[in-house]
Amino acid sequence: RVVAVIMVGGPTKGTRFRPLSLNIPKPLFPLAGQPMVHHPISACKRIPNLAQIYLIGFYEERDFALYTSSISNELKVPVRYLKEDKPHGSAGGVYNFRDLIMEENTSHIFLLNCDVCCSFPLPEMLDAHKKYGGMGTILVVKVSAETAHEFGELVADPITNELLHYTEKPETFVSDRINCGVYIFTPDVFTAIQGVSSQRKDRANLRRVSSFEAMQPDTRSLPSDFVRLDQDILSPLAGKKQLYVYETKDFWEQIKTPGMSLKCSSLYLAQFRHTSPHLLAKGDGTSGASISGDVYIHPSAKVHPSAKVGPNVSISANARVGAGARLISCIILDGVEIKENAVVIHAIVGWKSSIGKWARVQASGDYNAKLGVTILGESVTVEDEVVVVNSIVLPHKTLNVNVQDEILL
Ligand code: GDD
Repeated sequence: RVVAVIMVGGPTKGTRFRPLSLNIPKPLFPLAGQPMVHHPISACKRIPNLAQIYLIGFYEERDFALYTSSISNELKVPVRYLKEDKPHGSAGGVYNFRDLIMEENTSHIFLLNCDVCCSFPLPEMLDAHKKYGGMGTILVVKVSAETAHEFGELVADPITNELLHYTEKPETFVSDRINCGVYIFTPDVFTAIQGVSSQRKDRANLRRVSSFEAMQPDTRSLPSDFVRLDQDILSPLAGKKQLYVYETKDFWEQIKTPGMSLKCSSLYLAQFRHTSPHLLAKGDGTSGASISGDVYIHPSAKVHPSAKVGPNVSISANARVGAGARLISCIILDGVEIKENAVVIHAIVGWKSSIGKWARVQASGDYNAKLGVTILGESVTVEDEVVVVNSIVLPHKTLNVNVQDEILL
């Protein structure tokens, strides 16, 4: 039997996702109209013999309760949230719940970061992993040499696919092949994590009786139950015939900032053309407005027939879009009102915000730039005819004058 584990982190993580993560745990922020974590979860449907999906994090249980119960019903696979009492790191967190994970007579464990956007080729990884016969297989992707340092860089044997070398976010260039944050392991991974943890304990004991501490500066402050998958497990096991890689040629992105969530929303909307075409608004007028490209409109949202929407637009529950409004490349959250002839381009409009008549909320659309996507927090009011360009606006502000290139606190 196979168990999938998705690491969702907690409120002290995801700080670069502010101000959007002030309202909602980042893993539940909607991309293409579905919670971020929904995309890896629905990819798990394709895993043969899947017994359970666990979300592990240190958010409050109640934050995930509604979502896990509705998705369990929909998928017909139990999805359960497991709360850590404190952060244990990406490997320590899974280790903490090893007994539960092993209860299913578990032969394989998928481990997925919640903040990556890709096509999750999980059955293909499982097949490759069985063929390699190692303890773990890592999904990897080729990125540009300029951006590789933001990730775990690795070198693999081109013939056997064995992982030969691994460095987490190195300062000098090692490789343009990087760790996607998607893994499959056999239960032996728990023995490896246990090993790191006991080593830490031994060192701590040694420190008490000697000046050993000075020789181990990097692990000095880490408690023994805090284990990172990348630095503590992958790095030391590289080149030992235990870890292998599976390379994807498909799309892959990391979702650390609001700007990237807009990019990933467009990638998932495009994927819906093949996986869930029923979720895309039809261009034939049935959704009210004139639609171009990939668009998601929640069934409870009201869009005026003379509005023009798309490409890359997702409109959440109870939003209203008035006559003559123009929406391109944006995420419109629950309860937003966009009045007549307003324009929204390259922007995320927060819950219950209101955009006045003839107002413009826009940005350059450079997803990697700090102000490349305009973000309005919850309940922001943009008055009629006001223009907001390349800006971030914190919750509950009212804008009655034009703003450009500003962060409004
Ligand atoms: N439950 C729990 N507890 N989850 C955690 C914890 C923890 O203590 N710490 C991190 N996570 C989750 C995060 O929510 C995220 O989904 C994942 O584990 C990895 O987070 P980080 O450890 O902060 O690493 P990162 O995202 O900067 O980089 C990792 O992922 C990249 C791919 O996106 C590394 O593994 C990189 O090598 C990799 O390229």
